[in-house]
Order: sequence, then structure tokens, then C-alpha cells
Amino acid sequence: MNKNLRKAIIAGNWKMNKTRPEAKALLEEIKPLVANAEGKIEVIACVPFTNLETAVNTTAGSNVKVGAENVHFEKSGAFTGEISADMLTELGVEYVVIGHSERRQYFGETDETVNKRTKAALAAGLKPIVCVGELKWERECGITEEVVGKQIKLDLWDVTEEELKNVVIAYEPVWAIGTGLTATPEQAEEVCGFIRATLAKLYNQAAADAVTIQYGGSMNAKNAAELLAKPNIDGGLIGGASLKAADFNVIVQAAVEG
Ligand code: PGA
Repeated sequence: MNKNLRKAIIAGNWKMNKTRPEAKALLEEIKPLVANAEGKIEVIACVPFTNLETAVNTTAGSNVKVGAENVHFEKSGAFTGEISADMLTELGVEYVVIGHSERRQYFGETDETVNKRTKAALAAGLKPIVCVGELKWERECGITEEVVGKQIKLDLWDVTEEELKNVVIAYEPVWAIGTGLTATPEQAEEVCGFIRATLAKLYNQAAADAVTIQYGGSMNAKNAAELLAKPNIDGGLIGGASLKAADFNVIVQAAVEG
């Protein structure tokens, strides 16, 4: 298993945090810290819709890329409160988080809508970060692989091998998100390896080896290096720690060194 076959990606998921001036200030702080990652790893800030334009302008000319936190699957129309993929690409957004567990838990997101959003994002030229992960009781019942395998199969249904090159997977055990409970490096590696094996079955080994698989769930400045050292963990989707420039940078540097 060769990690050089794929790009390491550290992405901040800001969730529902930061006004525009706060977003600008945080990005101005992050930019010089992570400038040395250019050409080595990808650094992304996934920000609320209202901050996207500010983020695109603030990061222009830097190596920090911008992502949205969701996207609708229809091109346009009567979908009050939703944002289309074309609206995001027109702004200069490159990535989009899809199927985050908070969307699944609180906003009725299903594998079917995750799949539709993923297809729409890809069709518009966006790179989706597709989130999967088991609940605590699903892990306790010993069905983590069934749950995550099903999510991968359904969420990527009808995604071609060519399109897969632009897909990032984030393995985020739901019990580890925002709880301070991190999966151990061994637990995270086990599931990320399983995700890659599932992709190899659905596509082929070469296609699977090229997919960046991130871990997410209380990844922080202290535990990042250990997690990122694992062969199938190619990056992180960082919530809380991405809101502090210094902590986010420690994680970025761990990925640069890893
Ligand atoms: P956390 O969030 O790092 O705050 O646990 C991760 C995520 O939700 O992507």
C-alpha cells in the first residue's frame, strides 16, 4: 500500500461558526502558517455558505482551498434555502462536504440524497468530501463494516471510475465527532482500510489506491500525527480544532511530515 499514490488532504469543517470578519481573520492567520504545505498536501477550509465569497477572496493566491459544507442536487428551482453546485463553482469553490453525520442526524439526509448530491457536485466540477461513519451502538453491535460498507456502496452508486478520481472519503465515526472521544489509530485504520477494500471491489485496486480517505472525529493537535501515520489514513476532516489557527496548523504540519 503506497501512500504516495494519493494526495494528503487536511480540511477544516467550520460547521455553523464565524461571521465574515471572523472568517477573514482566521484565514489570514492560517495562510502564512500553512504556506509551506504548498505542493505537498492539500489544505482546505470548508466554511458556511455566507463565508464562501470572503474565504475565496481571502485565500486567493495562497495554497488554502475553499469548500462548502453542503450542496443541493437540483440545478435550480423551487428549493427554498438550498444552494446549487453551479452557485458554488461560480464563486470559485472547489470542494464540498456531503453527508456529514450532522446533516444525516439533524436534517434527514439519507444515503439516497447523499448520492444525488455527490453526483450533482461531480457533474458541476466540484470535488465532494463524502462522509461516512457508524453510530456508537452500531459499533457496539459489531456492525461497523456493514454500516460503512452500505454507505460507501449507496453514496457512490453510479459514480464512474473517472469521477472517483475527484472524490474524497471522510471516515467519521459519529461517536467521535465533537465528543473528545477519538477512534484509536488502530480503529480508524481498520475502517479506512475496509473502505479502501470496498472501493477496490466496486472499482479496482488501482482506483481504490488513488482515493484520499480522511479520518474525522476529535482529531486534534495532540493525536493527529499518530492517526496520519497509518497507511490508509490520508488526511483529516477537522471540526473544533480547525477553528484555532495554531492547532489546525499542527495537524497540517503532521500531514506534511507524514
Ligand atoms: P470534530 O468534528 O473534529 O469537532 O470532532 C469533525 C467533523 O465533524 O468533521
